[in-house]
Amino acid sequence: MALSSQKGIVITIPVLVLSVSAAAIFLFFLLSSLSSSPCTCPPSNPDSTLTTTAAVVTGGTVVAEVVDRRISVSRDDIEWVKDQIRANGLHMQDNVLRKGINPRTRAQQLEDLNNFKGISHYEGSEANNHTALPCPGELLVEEHHSNYGEPWAGGRDVFEFLAESSRLTANSHVLEIGCGTLRVGLHFIRYLKPEHFHCLERDKLSLMAAFRYELPSQGLLHKRPLIVRGEDMDFTKFGSDVMYDLIYASAVFLHMPDKLVWVGLERLVSRLKPYDGRIFVSHNIKFCSRLGGDECTKRLGSLGLENLGKHTHDSLLFNHYEIWFEFRRSKA
Ligand SMILES: *[C@@H]1O[C@H](CO)[C@@H](O)[C@H](O)[C@H]1NC(C)=O
Repeated sequence: MALSSQKGIVITIPVLVLSVSAAAIFLFFLLSSLSSSPCTCPPSNPDSTLTTTAAVVTGGTVVAEVVDRRISVSRDDIEWVKDQIRANGLHMQDNVLRKGINPRTRAQQLEDLNNFKGISHYEGSEANNHTALPCPGELLVEEHHSNYGEPWAGGRDVFEFLAESSRLTANSHVLEIGCGTLRVGLHFIRYLKPEHFHCLERDKLSLMAAFRYELPSQGLLHKRPLIVRGEDMDFTKFGSDVMYDLIYASAVFLHMPDKLVWVGLERLVSRLKPYDGRIFVSHNIKFCSRLGGDECTKRLGSLGLENLGKHTHDSLLFNHYEIWFEFRRSKA
């Protein structure tokens, strides 16, 4: 024992000395490269991060502020997760997604919940005073995640595209027209400062899912989103002091009478930040194109809106793209 530990010391000291000097040399080069060139060059891989530092003047003092990291997933992120999948030996073969010891469908899970089978629970009068915000079982098993045509995960795609296209920061103000069960809205709410996300939604059941399940289960109640039940493009409950950086409607305008869409746009133009603010509309803009090309442009122009064109955005996780039309306010 004594011999081997002595041997250990004999070996470690030169190794230690070597690594210390190596570190010193590395540090020397690092420091000299930093001092010789005050580098304002972009990061070596511009795709890996969008972080920049901006000088912001607040009340006469200049404060350095780190502008938010990029929003969309980067190539590095994708390579990283692919490496993790490889390193952990996860292959896309039959059975790889088979469920655990007690496989349950959503319907069976709901049955379990309703019958309290196999789940610890309070009985009698105790059943009513331990749960602060009792949630309907249908929501707990996330039936609403398959209420709409598209996969729930597509909400992230929409958020990444819209937030980057309109250059949002956490300080921005966003209005969604028809946020449903918050498939998209959750991502905005998480990203934005409290009270900066607003939404008008007419469907009661969707709002139930939003308030009773999504916000509490995602830990987002403290973000205090202003979600108002209403229809007919009535935005009066949102007050008149907020100017929006982004107003968007995902698969909503195509289900509304053209006339009502125009009423909504007319009401919203004055609430959109001039020039920098954006309105995004998904799928198509038949409410406008049906008027004929020139008429469409003219009508938009009379409201002070300019069509900046069409975009397509690919989904991260499934074979799908979304079409978006971008508008800005062209007059102050
Ligand atoms: C819940 O109510 C029961 C019956 O009234 C009572 O005995 C119990 O202490 C209460 N528990 C809590 C956590 O308030």
